[in-house]
Amino acid sequence: MYSLRELEVSLGERSYPIYIEGGLLKSSGILLRQVSRTDKILLVSNPTVFALYGRKVQEAMEKQGFSVSVALMPDGEQYKNQEEAFKVLDQAVEAQLERSSLVLALGGGVVGDLAGLVAALYQRGIDYVQIPTTLLSQVDSSVGGKVAINHPQGKNLIGAFHQPRMVIIDYLTLATLDKREYKSGLAEVVKYGIIHDINFFDYLESHAEAIKAQEAGSLEKIIYESCRIKSEVVAKDERETGLRAILNLGHTFGHSLEKLGNYSRLRHGEAVAMGTIAASFLAREKNYLTVDELERIIKLYRCLGIPIRWPDFEPPAIYEGMLNDKKVINHKLRLVLPRGIGNFVLSEDISREELLAAIRQAQNSL
Ligand SMILES: NC(=O)c1ccc[n+]([C@@H]2O[C@H](COP(=O)([O-])OP(=O)(O)OC[C@H]3O[C@@H](n4cnc5c(N)ncnc54)[C@H](O)[C@@H]3O)[C@@H](O)[C@H]2O)c1
Ligand SMILES: [Zn+2]
Repeated sequence: MYSLRELEVSLGERSYPIYIEGGLLKSSGILLRQVSRTDKILLVSNPTVFALYGRKVQEAMEKQGFSVSVALMPDGEQYKNQEEAFKVLDQAVEAQLERSSLVLALGGGVVGDLAGLVAALYQRGIDYVQIPTTLLSQVDSSVGGKVAINHPQGKNLIGAFHQPRMVIIDYLTLATLDKREYKSGLAEVVKYGIIHDINFFDYLESHAEAIKAQEAGSLEKIIYESCRIKSEVVAKDERETGLRAILNLGHTFGHSLEKLGNYSRLRHGEAVAMGTIAASFLAREKNYLTVDELERIIKLYRCLGIPIRWPDFEPPAIYEGMLNDKKVINHKLRLVLPRGIGNFVLSEDISREELLAAIRQAQNSL
């Protein structure tokens, strides 16, 4: 009924496959056998996801002769921290994982980031496999090898680059995902179309209803295309010394909005969508976008039901927050802007006034 799609993240000896299919969880053990001869797996998840899919994955593993220990971290971004990471490390020690053993991350980006860091640290680095279960993690965080936990002083401050051995994406898991989480993940999908692929952007426009309704064919398509684009970017710039920065479209604005909302008012994707709209107004001012293109971008978010009404934070406060972003070097804001639809430009010469004006335009655009 569903067809298996496969992609490769090409990174020399660290290359790995991404498999995408509806119902793939039950074949996850067979897939894993392709990359691992180990018998020991540490399955990292949280109680929410484990209750839904843990058993199925565990059975799939055990059928292939893996012996599975389970480490559950509490559900929530606030637990992506040192204490929980070390608890999982303790469990890795207790389970007597070896250099050849494997960490399996089953969950959203929080579980994936923490489990990946645990795998990077345990015995100086062991293999791990991602089974992402939120849209955001299926189209973004599970691919690319950035793993991290938060520090009280900032998000993702303690981390590493550690590529997974495989990514297994079963989009049927999205059926149980909260709708707001789903739409927040869609914002990252739109991002790929804007910066990299006009055809994909066209597809999103013409299939907005199917995407909103989470029809299988459109889920497969949007996840496949997003992973394809992310893989291409990561393959060219694994450690974010250049090109990979384009994946931050809308994020410098977005991080500031998330922070001003105390990380509770806005979902990450919502803040990114709003930030992308401000970046698009800037691009319009600098003639990188036509009025038509700017309107198409705003309309696509609307058609997909992604909330883009900006909170009424004061523009100068938003601007100050942007200067504190960890991507800012020497107080110089370096922003990714759309250049037409399907292309980008990195802009370093944006004045405070121009930014404040773009923020106001974005705030008034609805
Ligand atoms: N490593 C990267 O490159 C990268 C990129 C982007 C984001 N991130 C990180 O990802 C994290 C956010 O990830 P997220 O948006 O997936 O959030 P999340 O992991 O917190 O998941 C959101 C919620 O959905 C629940 N959930 C997960 N799968 C479910 C399912 N199938 N059905 C029902 N509920 C389910 C989770 O338990 C959680 O409550 C952040 O910490 C962010 O820093 C990392
Ligand atoms: Zn993001």
